[in-house]
Amino acid sequence: MKVSVIGAGYVGLTTAACLAQIGHDVFCSESDVEKLSKLQNGGMPIFEPHLQDVIKGVRKVGRLRFGSTEEAIAWGDAIFICVGTPPLANGDADLCAIEGVARAIAKRASGYRLIIEKSTVPVQTGGQLRKHLSVHSTNGLRYDVASNPEFLREGTSVEDFLHPDRIVIGADSPRAADLLHEIYEPIVKQRFTCPIHSDCPKRKDPTFLATDTNSAELIKHASNSFLAMKISFINMVANLCEVVGADVTKVAEGMGLDPRIGPAFLNPGIGFGGFCFPKDVQAFVRIAEKSGCDFSLLREVEKINQRRVEHFVEKIRKELWVVRGKKIALWGLAFKPNTDDVRFAPSLTLVKALLDEGAEVNAYDPEAMEKAKSVLPNITYCSSPYEAAEGADAIVIVTEWDEFRQVDWDRLRLAVERPLVVDGRNMLDAAEVTRRGFHYVSVGRPVVTPGQLPSAAKDVHSVEGVQVEAASVLAK
Ligand code: UDX
Repeated sequence: MKVSVIGAGYVGLTTAACLAQIGHDVFCSESDVEKLSKLQNGGMPIFEPHLQDVIKGVRKVGRLRFGSTEEAIAWGDAIFICVGTPPLANGDADLCAIEGVARAIAKRASGYRLIIEKSTVPVQTGGQLRKHLSVHSTNGLRYDVASNPEFLREGTSVEDFLHPDRIVIGADSPRAADLLHEIYEPIVKQRFTCPIHSDCPKRKDPTFLATDTNSAELIKHASNSFLAMKISFINMVANLCEVVGADVTKVAEGMGLDPRIGPAFLNPGIGFGGFCFPKDVQAFVRIAEKSGCDFSLLREVEKINQRRVEHFVEKIRKELWVVRGKKIALWGLAFKPNTDDVRFAPSLTLVKALLDEGAEVNAYDPEAMEKAKSVLPNITYCSSPYEAAEGADAIVIVTEWDEFRQVDWDRLRLAVERPLVVDGRNMLDAAEVTRRGFHYVSVGRPVVTPGQLPSAAKDVHSVEGVQVEAASVLAK
């Protein structure tokens, strides 16, 4: 099918590339001329595993082209709207870009078009779109408006698009529902050449959930808000574990074994960030408020998340005593691994707090430093975790990049001023790090010092040379 995708951000670019990968003839437009020319010249405006290769492959066979919005409107029988809906100051989603695209379609398109909102939008946006198109259409446009929320995660967006758990569509006409089913059929049947897995393992066919537009729109906000709630919940449990001397990793494991809870999104840390969770929770609270529903539960989820960085800074203060004048090696700036995205990343708030306390920050991130430089000008950017750790009073882990699991702790032991690791993602093995002579502090788990035993080990078997501070907490 001839399909257009308007907007080449994470969602638009992944959607365009993957729809072309499964066989459709795709036109992707971008209004940012610099970004557009980069794409037209084979460049990538974002770091996203596999995406550049997919784009190269489908462009080579002529199934993907980049151009202007006007060209995209003229091209596709189906038009996916994937423009940004950033948060406004009051937390509402900014729908200007969507409205602008709808106006352009109304003015330019003729004949039948299926217009699909894929950006994250408040409930009832589909209804607004329909009204707007009928008010402004001047070319005899016949159309359907449908909703098709995406559940892509940055860092795994290509995999998430091609191997989703579910495809949700909201369509108020059988024609729109049929067209969307036709578009997604190769994915529903998992029949396409997979650009990621050479021997693509037989996966469970995704569920194709067809419902009305309002419900589909709500599924997106509700899903993201629920996941954010799970994270804030386990972060509160982590706080409790720190006081009573329990191990949140064990608690989460015990909870997650219950299929009604599930193990996913129970990793405590310094809070959720990125361009989705913070703004989607805010927007959902606003949508509810405007509909007379007091979603104080989600407001609490936000508050808990906003307090995570301060709670983490308190850990650093507790270890360093005086933060002023200390050298902090900051490992990780991206809001999560496998992306270069620092939007709403906890690292931004953490760096500000450390600089405000007079610390010197030497940071390293495998991918996100270029993007971070524009928002964090007052720190030193290093070429490796080792350079960042040179003379450090503390190594502070902010993003759980795999690279940090492979570092040489003996080499680091010689580089640092003080062997202290404060792990904001619980990514390291306490016994291993302390065996290398580092004092190890993490989230919701016992603090471990060289020569003391991690709590869990104490119960099952003893590991020579490492012991637990938690016991002393209990003793008190
Ligand atoms: C999210 C949703 O997962 C995705 O379905 C939706 O389409 C877009 O928003 P993304 O923002 O890419 O995707 O990141 P995700 O992997 O969900 O992580 C969000 C934040 O939560 C990150 O900061 C991550 O570090 C944090 N997180 C995640 C936790 O703190 N603990 C967890 O257990 C999981």
